[in-house]
Amino acid sequence: MSKPDKVMNEIMSLAKRRGFVFQSSEIYGGINAIWDMGPLGVEMKNNIKRYWWYHMVQLRPDIEGLDAAILMHPRVWEASGHISEFTDPLVECRNCHRRFRADEIKNGKCPVCGSDDLTEPRMFNLMFKTFIGPVESEENTIYLRPETAQGIYVNFLNVLNTTRQKIPFGIAQIGKAFRNEISPGNFIFRSREFEQMEMQYFVHPDEADKWFEYWRQQRWNWYLSLGIDEGKLHWHEHGPDELAHYARAAYDIEFDFPFGRKELEGIHNRGDFDLSRHQQYSGKSLEYTDKVTGEKYIPFIIETSGGVDRAMLAILCDAYTVEPERNDPNRTRTVLKMHPRISPIKVGVFPLVKKDGMPEMAREIAQELRKKFTVFYDEKDSIGRRYRRQDEAGTPFCVTVDGQSLQDETVTIRERDTMVQVRVKITEIAPMIEKYIDSWERDKGIE
Ligand code: GAP
Repeated sequence: MSKPDKVMNEIMSLAKRRGFVFQSSEIYGGINAIWDMGPLGVEMKNNIKRYWWYHMVQLRPDIEGLDAAILMHPRVWEASGHISEFTDPLVECRNCHRRFRADEIKNGKCPVCGSDDLTEPRMFNLMFKTFIGPVESEENTIYLRPETAQGIYVNFLNVLNTTRQKIPFGIAQIGKAFRNEISPGNFIFRSREFEQMEMQYFVHPDEADKWFEYWRQQRWNWYLSLGIDEGKLHWHEHGPDELAHYARAAYDIEFDFPFGRKELEGIHNRGDFDLSRHQQYSGKSLEYTDKVTGEKYIPFIIETSGGVDRAMLAILCDAYTVEPERNDPNRTRTVLKMHPRISPIKVGVFPLVKKDGMPEMAREIAQELRKKFTVFYDEKDSIGRRYRRQDEAGTPFCVTVDGQSLQDETVTIRERDTMVQVRVKITEIAPMIEKYIDSWERDKGIE
């Protein structure tokens, strides 16, 4: 097994073992490329979404939030071009009957069995179909959205008319998207059901290039502010043959996953493609009128489109560290060194031993801390093993109640990455953790 494969296997097994990610419907043998988030996974994913929403909506007077439905009018997907364009060329091997995207075929041979007996590529639409109402007919066909963006475009006027926004302004949403990928894989990197965090910024056409550069910088800085190693982040500019049907220009932010350098997020200049098409297909004017100059125009759209699951995988891969134990270099400790705001559990609380009133005091502290943080109370095994268990879950702090605590109402707090321990008053635990989390965020210039 190559080193990257080994690392990826270790991360996947940690994710399963610790309750980050489970295979969907596992007791039935699982279903390919569909995943469930376990107790730690759901906390981590929610933290990523909150962090994105905080920076992209809460801190920004020029961006509104939205939560549009997954199922939309079928005409939306005609207008958006997804019915005609959202296809991948599919090739089947006649020998082993595996199916591939045409670009995965190298030298005309099947990547699995090596046979050159392959079908001609045929276009395969990636949208999942279903029916609305009880009759399964052509006219009742609807689609599970393959991107959240269209829910924003069709609500452009609603948001404009119900807020005080003027161009330039944005609409952001987080939600599920579905793609019947031909070649899903690499754990949660490419799945058939996933979540997107998308923001569409509506601008004057003359200012599109300026805002495109602005959003590229903002989104890059956002990943840096998460503490992701800048050396593992890269830009990829789409060449003319790579651009999606709606895009005039596109850059991907890529991350060095153990399985290779892959896309984390796309920043696209979609021009007036989407609003013009929805205007044409719906028959409703989607023009914007500048109240000062009186100018009427269809706004251009700068889109930032990231995957929640991909961000989660990148953070897990970046954080995954196996290092020698300080006092015993022959042993290793596994630790997820992730941004404390993203960590699923913020504080582990332990009694040093299971007697002398320590568990009672520790439980009381844990319950008080739960009002502000996610807390895990643990009294099983040695204190060293309890620390290790929390290191592996990425928990930034462990609070231990010992003999002295009963005398003077102090506890020790241990920090995950440095393993430094300090003694503090019980009343200082929460402020200290909050201060530490704030100071951890590097100032990377995101607004
Ligand atoms: N609205 C534009 C759009 O959807 P995209 O490049 O196709 O653009 C945007 O997708 C992001 O969504 C990707 O950068 C990735 O993070 C995420 N994504 C796309 N397909 C995915 C899949 N099958 N599994 C997980 N995430 C996916």
